[in-house]
Amino acid sequence: AIKKSIVLGTLTLLCLILSSCAAVSDTKVLYFAHSLPTSHPVHKGILDMQSILNEKSGGKLQIKVFPDGQLGSEREVLELLQIGSIAITKVSASALSNFAPEYQITVIPYLFRDDAHLWRNLEGEVGEQLLASGSEYLLRGLCFYDAGARSFYTKEKPINSPDDLTGLKVRVQNDQMSVSMANTLGASATPMAFSELYTALQQNVVDGAENNIPSFVTSNHFEVCKYYTFDEHTMIPDVVIIGTKFWDKLSDQEKNWLRAASKESVVAQKRYWKETIAEQMEMLKKNGVQFTYPNKEAFQEKSRPIMENMKKDPKMKAIIDKINAN
Ligand code: GCU
Repeated sequence: AIKKSIVLGTLTLLCLILSSCAAVSDTKVLYFAHSLPTSHPVHKGILDMQSILNEKSGGKLQIKVFPDGQLGSEREVLELLQIGSIAITKVSASALSNFAPEYQITVIPYLFRDDAHLWRNLEGEVGEQLLASGSEYLLRGLCFYDAGARSFYTKEKPINSPDDLTGLKVRVQNDQMSVSMANTLGASATPMAFSELYTALQQNVVDGAENNIPSFVTSNHFEVCKYYTFDEHTMIPDVVIIGTKFWDKLSDQEKNWLRAASKESVVAQKRYWKETIAEQMEMLKKNGVQFTYPNKEAFQEKSRPIMENMKKDPKMKAIIDKINAN
């Protein structure tokens, strides 16, 4: 609570400074908060968005980036967007699913068949529908960033099959779908914020977690967890979101700059992602991390009830069917 009030106090102060700046020049600065470290390929994509926006607007519309969860967890920052304290964030679609339920479909295990299937959908009709769905909850989507596939990693033993997850406390993201994903696969799901996980792993509060390679590496979780299993249960994208409180106040030209800058930054972000993974895999091998390539069908089979369950909701079923047919 103390940390939160310091954050809010600092924010209020920053807002005051900002509004006074805006009065003396015609530069608008939008605050962009996210939870990943600066060495992360997603952060690098955000920096591209920043420079493209600067260029397009001739410096009139800028973003200032606060990485590393400095301004709060993903859930907290989304709330700050809703009340209009922060303009922009980048969160995992699963964090967003707490606010805009249609994003829950992105957390369904083995929904997307591969990279091409994922992007065909994210950059097609389904993606547009998802990005627009947040506006009702004051959270308007700008673009998706590549967040690869998530797999389990553990401290004590490799995971060769879902049976190996039995009895293991596994950290998941703070949303109902992630909890149900891990529990259905046989683990004991422990939701917590990303920034708390390193200590939780170190102190054996949890036995493992699940994430993509860049987040496993840049958070230094690989120092504690020496087993990484490529079961690739989910492909949950990252999403850049602007609060409608800020969006609605932008001029049409400012909206165009922002929309174009975010979309254009995706191209580089995807490239950073691929380059980073290749380097990081080498680094992990040198640091004694053991990779396991399990039979994914066993994981897929065991997690199937999640999709079946979600299909009971006609609105969700319509989106899932569209994805499956695409
Ligand atoms: C990914 C995602 C983050 C998220 C994290 C998590 O790294 O990019 O936005 O915070 O997973 O597991 O919490």
